Formats: sequence, structure tokens, C-alpha cells
Amino acid sequence: MQRQIFVTSALPNANGPIHLGHMLEHIQTDIWVRFLRMQGHEVVYVCADDTHGTATMIKAEQEGITPTELVDAVRQEHLADFNGFLVEYDNYYTTHSEENRHYSELIFSRLQEQGLIYTENVEQLYDAEKGLFLADRFVIGNCPKCNAEGQYGDNCESCGATYNATELGNPKSIYSGTAPELRESEHYFFDLGKYTDFLREWTRSGSVQPEIANKLSEWLDDELRPWDISRDAPYFGFTIPGTEDKYFYVWMDAPIGYMASLQNLCDQREDLNFDSFWGQDSSAEVHHFIGKDIVNFHALFWPAVLDGAGFRTPSRIHAHGFVTVNGTKMSKSRGTFILAQRYLEHLNPEYLRYYYATKLSDSADDLDINLDDFVQRVNADLVGKVINIASRTAGFLVKHFDGELSAELHDPSLMQQFTNAADSIAEHFERGNFGKAMREITALADLANQYIAAHEPWNMIKDAERKADVQPVCSQALEMFRALMIFLKPILPDTARRAEEFLAVEPFQWADLTTHLGSHRINPFKAMLQRMEVKQVEKLVDAPEPQAPEQAQATVSKTDAPISIEDFNKIELRVARIVSAEPVDGADKLLRLVLDVGDHQRQVFSGIKAAYAPDDLVDRLTVVVANLAPRKMRFGVSEGMVLAAGPGDADIFLLSPDSGATPGMVVK
Ligand code: 2FM
Ligand code: ZN
Repeated sequence: MQRQIFVTSALPNANGPIHLGHMLEHIQTDIWVRFLRMQGHEVVYVCADDTHGTATMIKAEQEGITPTELVDAVRQEHLADFNGFLVEYDNYYTTHSEENRHYSELIFSRLQEQGLIYTENVEQLYDAEKGLFLADRFVIGNCPKCNAEGQYGDNCESCGATYNATELGNPKSIYSGTAPELRESEHYFFDLGKYTDFLREWTRSGSVQPEIANKLSEWLDDELRPWDISRDAPYFGFTIPGTEDKYFYVWMDAPIGYMASLQNLCDQREDLNFDSFWGQDSSAEVHHFIGKDIVNFHALFWPAVLDGAGFRTPSRIHAHGFVTVNGTKMSKSRGTFILAQRYLEHLNPEYLRYYYATKLSDSADDLDINLDDFVQRVNADLVGKVINIASRTAGFLVKHFDGELSAELHDPSLMQQFTNAADSIAEHFERGNFGKAMREITALADLANQYIAAHEPWNMIKDAERKADVQPVCSQALEMFRALMIFLKPILPDTARRAEEFLAVEPFQWADLTTHLGSHRINPFKAMLQRMEVKQVEKLVDAPEPQAPEQAQATVSKTDAPISIEDFNKIELRVARIVSAEPVDGADKLLRLVLDVGDHQRQVFSGIKAAYAPDDLVDRLTVVVANLAPRKMRFGVSEGMVLAAGPGDADIFLLSPDSGATPGMVVK
């Protein structure tokens, strides 16, 4: 029976780059989707960027662009990374869309009608200088339990205590460094407690993995607390209907983004109907793939919100664990925080797809990329065992038999073992136990290699009496190769396509496993997948990643301690002459400055556009931090920073030395 299946991967945040942790989930989902499509099911797979929230707003401000410009640019980068890894969405949209506004407002109004929304005043820390309410992670201070300095507002890294940001001693806003004040404001709440019984049942109905259900029951043992779904202005997001300065909390409209992406796709494709997936009577399946860290949002809030608003609930939440590299958490300082882009510069995406597949199961266990094991599995198991079957046998058929395969199977009972495995391998794919599927496939590849080794076609061909048998033996080998490539196609779409070309067949479907090629002419063998080079793999981790911009942001250091004269002496300040200044396409607040620093010129991007007309800056002297590490920005590399005073926007005052100073002079 053909199933109708809607599938999503979690929506990546628009304020950071895609790394191999994201890729685990998107590759996992893509493999599952491709497998189901090969089985003939109707599958719609969507994703989007998760764009809203304070973090996006602040990041855009730092880059001198508007949040919309930022999310548009980042979406293109994310898409390029996912395409690079052969992840094939039907739609990759954005939560900052009219469709998402529509469904967010619709859901909210239905929840209101159901009496599930109420308001209450909340006291929260407020950065008066920035004019911003501060989320817990944006406040730093002393732990209320152990007094450790420099702790975030939600928990202490030193003693493990959890607390409210309002309990911190000597709190500071990470944005302005000033002490926040307590302010009261009205918030909107979703009355999640009313859904406690519903969710107790839902989470035990096969909608989540048993281990996840156990974890959720820790929350569900007590009545669930109301969920705060609003944030105060300024915020990048959708205003709550009936208000001017209240916004939907990003986690409210993010999962609704799944619907919005589908709606946007339905508007482009006449064969798709939104209600057939999300309507209350939908007979379709809805599957969300997520990381285990966001299971409360997907398995508590989301089903409750959906039910409250008259939509069907998901069929299943598939939670996975975290990626570690060589046994430890991915870390920027160890150089193991591997960005998707960096991987793609050095290695074939199918290596990682294969490796992840060998290690994935239906549990939410963490998954380690052990770099030695990675090379070994790809080279020994995939290239050595599978691809080699074709490379060792195809040449004889093309050279001596005009590329014609034998009509009859040489060893039908051996072939039967491949055909018989199809159901169990399919079952493993269906359940997300890709690792188990891989082990069966590798065992079959071993059988194929034993068969070839036993017959030694390379010796048979030299023996006039046995030469004719080379054709059925090599044909059998290719029939087995074909079956293996059908099994592997969800994981290795590019290699499978090359195999289809080589075998001169239509795109593989799962049902092809019940047939054989028989009498058929193939094309000459061309390399399908190269072995992995160890030195390429080393490039993934040999140097720490350049510091991602968001890491350089906090304006207050964690300890907030005074710096020594040695620290100060590290900063090289020089007089610079502004040679040219021009606006930057796509950046509202930035100017691109070319500076003469005495012995050379360099480019610096500076957020002073609102304060200065470019022409007024030309020939002016200023002061530049000359030894600041170059920073890659969206528009190019910024080599230094010019010094200016003032709060921002039009109130910025560029520092200039008195007349007589010349470019290159050291400032002390
Ligand atoms: O954790 C995250 O990265 C979120 N952006 C995931 C959102 S998934 C969905 F709810 F939109
Ligand atoms: Zn503590």
C-alpha cells in the first residue's frame, strides 16, 4: 500500500553555520526519505531556517545588516551546505515568511478560543542601556550557591546548581556589561498543564522512542507548568495579534515553520494538499527528526499546541544523539568543531553519509566520528568490498564479451541470498536501524567477494577451456553488485547513479531486487568512488576553525577582571589614513574602508554608515587596531578595526589624531 508521508528535519538556527552535528540529522532524515521513495511511497520532505529571536537580531546588528538581510544570506549558505551533502528536500524555506505568520496567528487564535492562553506579569532582568530583556544565557554573574564568578543565568558550570537569572550575584548583561535591572512585563502563556494527561498517553503510544518516553515521564509525573510563549520588543519575529510590542517566542513559531514550508510547497505544486497532511482526519504520516536536546519542544509543547489548535499530532518523533569527534564533544579549541563547508572542501559527502549510516540506530545514543575508523570503514568496506566487485569483473565482460551479461544466473542459490535479505534490510531502514542494514549489506558483499575469489576470473580468462565461463561468473558478480547498490542507494545517491549508468539501467527502485538483469549490455566501467586519502581526513581537524563571529561578540568577558599592562601592550594601535570609503551591497550599516597604515593598505569593514557619508571620510586620519586577527565577514575579510566612540547608529564618533600624525605611527 502506498503511504503518504510528511518528513522534517529540525530547522537550523539562522544565526550560525551548519556543522557535522546538523549533518547527522539531515543525512539520517534524507536516507530515510530516499529509502521510502524507492519503495514507492509518496514522501514530502521539508525543512527551513529557524530565523527568529534575539540572537538573530544581535548578530545582524553586529554585522551591520538588517535581520532580514542576515537570514536571507544565511539561508543560502545553509542550502549550499545541505546540497553539498546531497540532502534532497522538497522545500527548504524560512520561518520568516508570510505562511508562517499566517499559521502562527491561526494557531494562536484557535488556542485562545479554546481558553488555552492567558497572560500574567513576569519579572525579568532588563538591560536598560540596550533596551532589552535578557534571556538567562545573556546574563553573567556569581553563582547563588557556590559564589563562582562568571556563571550564566541558568546554571553554574562550577557546582552544577540551576537557578533563575535574578538570583545571580553581581549580574552583568553580556551585551552592554551593565548591571541589569528587574522589570515587570506582561507575558502570554499556553496552559500546558491541561495537556498533562493527554501527553502521558501520547508519549506512551509509540510516538517517541521508549528511552525518550522514559525521560519525558520525569516531567510528566508532575503536572506540566504553563509555557511562556511571548517575548517583549525589541525582538525579531511576529507580533502577537492584538498587541504592538509582544512577539511570539521563537520556539512557538519554529515548529509551525514545518507547516509553513509545506504550505509554501503546496502553493507551488498542484498535486499536494496541506490538509491531507495536517488536517485532523489526515491518514498521512507525519515524522519529525530531531536531536534529543529539543525533545520537550517536539514531544510535549508541539503535540499539545497542535491538538489545541485542531490539527493532527505527529506520528512519530525520531530523536538522535550528539556527534562526538574522536570520543569527545566537538570543540572549537581542539579544532574538532567541523563545519559542513570545511568538510566539503576536502572530502566526498558520500563518505560521511556512509559512515553515519554504519553507526545509526533507532536509539538516541551519541555517535562518534573516530577518524581512523572513518577511513577504514569507507576504504575497506565500501570501496574495497562493494565498489571493487564491479571494478574487478566489468573489464572482462566489456573486453571479451562485448559488455553482454549472461541470460542465466551462474549461482542462483547465492543470488537468492541477496534477494532474501531485501525484506530484513528494508525493515532495518524503516526502523532507522541503518547500522544493522549496513552490516547485512557488508556480509553480502563478503559473499560476493568470496565467490569471485573462488572462481578467479583473471585466471579463467587465460585458460582456453574455462574462458567461456568468465561471462556467467562476471555476470553473476555484477548481478550481486547491482543488488548491493540498490540497497545502498538511499545512502549513496551519486554512486548509485553512476552504477545505474554503468549497468545501463533505469534509476533503481526497491522492487528491482526481485528481478535480475539477465541478458543485457552494460557500459564500460568508470571509477565510481575513490578511496579516501588519510591526508584529506587530517585536514578536517588539523587546525582550529577560524573563530566564528558569534564567539567574538560578548562585550563583557566572563570574569570581568582588570587586564594587565602586558595584555594592553598586545594591542597594536596605529594611525591610518582612509584612502576610500564605500557602502556595502546588502549591508545597511557597513562601510568598506581602505586604510593606508604606512607601509601598506588594508580593508576594514566598519559599522559607521549611519553616521558618515563615505566621501566625508576620504583622507581623514583615524586609529586602527592593527594586529586584530583578520575576520571573515559575509562581504569579505576585515583586517582590523577602526576606533570610534558612541552608542551606535548615527551617534558614532570616529577617533582621529591631531594634525601632524602620519599613517603608520604607533598609538600609545
Ligand atoms: O535547536 C535548534 O537548532 C532549533 N532551531 C530547532 C527548531 S526545530 C523546529 F521546531 F523548528
Ligand atoms: Zn555554583
